[in-house]
Amino acid sequence: MNFVAYNPTRLVFGAGSLSKLGELTSPYGKKALIVTGGNSVKKSGVFARAVASLNAAGVAVAECAGIEPNPRITSVKRGADIARAEKCDVVIALGGGSAMDASKVIAAAALYDGDPWNLIGHGQENWAIPKQALPIITVPTLAATGSEMNAGAVISNEETKVKSFVQAECLFPKVAVVYPELTLSVPQDQTAYGVCDIITHVTEGYFNGVDGTPIQDRFAEGVIINAIEWGKKAVADGNNLDAREQVQWASIVALNGWVQAGTSGGYPVHMIEHALSAHHDITHGAGLAIVNPAWMRFAAKSRPERFAQFAERVFGLSPAGKDTTTLALEGIDAYVTFLKEIGCPTTLSEVGIGEELFEQYAKDAVLVVRDKEGNLLGRPPMSQDDIVAVLRSAL
Ligand code: NZQ
Ligand code: ZN
Repeated sequence: MNFVAYNPTRLVFGAGSLSKLGELTSPYGKKALIVTGGNSVKKSGVFARAVASLNAAGVAVAECAGIEPNPRITSVKRGADIARAEKCDVVIALGGGSAMDASKVIAAAALYDGDPWNLIGHGQENWAIPKQALPIITVPTLAATGSEMNAGAVISNEETKVKSFVQAECLFPKVAVVYPELTLSVPQDQTAYGVCDIITHVTEGYFNGVDGTPIQDRFAEGVIINAIEWGKKAVADGNNLDAREQVQWASIVALNGWVQAGTSGGYPVHMIEHALSAHHDITHGAGLAIVNPAWMRFAAKSRPERFAQFAERVFGLSPAGKDTTTLALEGIDAYVTFLKEIGCPTTLSEVGIGEELFEQYAKDAVLVVRDKEGNLLGRPPMSQDDIVAVLRSAL
């Protein structure tokens, strides 16, 4: 193993953390831009509580509301304009992954003179990866992306139908204020999609990483097992705070770099899903529930022993009397059964996607993350024909 791990975000987790938002923010400035999604944080009263805590600590507030799921670059531009006009010196995300991702790019765009779309990698010659951003503070209201404690953001361009990402050190939040109680109001379907997103962040590293990472293997399996156990409980009873807490914690460790340390894998399932949600505006976690099992069946052909390990260790399936491939496929079936049990779609037809644009999705999926031959990074690398075949198998 040969790697560098770095995560500077201060994590303040648990009961009472929201009331500390003001004191945690005040070292970073006197005026905060609060970035929110639709109406959920107003309806639940979370917005008012956040503002009260900030004002009590002497922090004034400006607002950028209305960040849409699959946040758009036009909203980022709007947010950056508000941040500049209101002379904000810190950006607070109060919402799901979409509000958090938009906040990060708003924080960078506020200090950038060019078109904010240059900050997002989309195959351009000169990717203006941000080197500076206003300080960012995240307050997640949905457990899914892990954006609260990582340096990534995913933004969509509604004109070009491209959804892509940026990752930069300056986008690490200074503080993640994580109060799992805020997720109690998340609807059942979004809870399930969030659980699927969490698990997929871990499976990407587990199946695409390098060999010889036994600690990371057990770490990944542990996170997946717990996300399944507590995810089922959170979906069954949205008011189960213990379950909400465990799922929230799982979402953080699944993508803050700890599980992935030393594995250096690709994210093929994410790249394919982003192409789908760019064109159809589907929920990210729902798209992953469709693509991941189809991708697993494809990848298991070249590395059945890895998928057999997943079947045995995560789902407790017995290898007795089975060949490796049979066990591998049984593990994938068990995963699909779990996804269906929590109410996730597992076929493209369930979300109204047909085969018309398969070639386009394949092209989009390799726009940024590809090897020298133009294949999508992963184990195994995927040609555009492979991507189309995987999508066809998910119809
Ligand atoms: O917009 P509001 O009104 O807040 O409603 C949202 C939205 O409709 C609702 N919601 C959030 N918290 C709630 C709530 N409803 C009731 N009570 C609450 N407490 O849930 C809906 C979905 O919200 P969204 O923020 O879009 O969901 P999620 O957290 O799943 O974020 C998805 C976005 O993050 C990107 C995805 O691609 C997608 O664009 N990702 C970001 C990553 C990262 N930065 O590391 C990694 C991921 O792989 C992912 O790609
Ligand atoms: Zn994801």
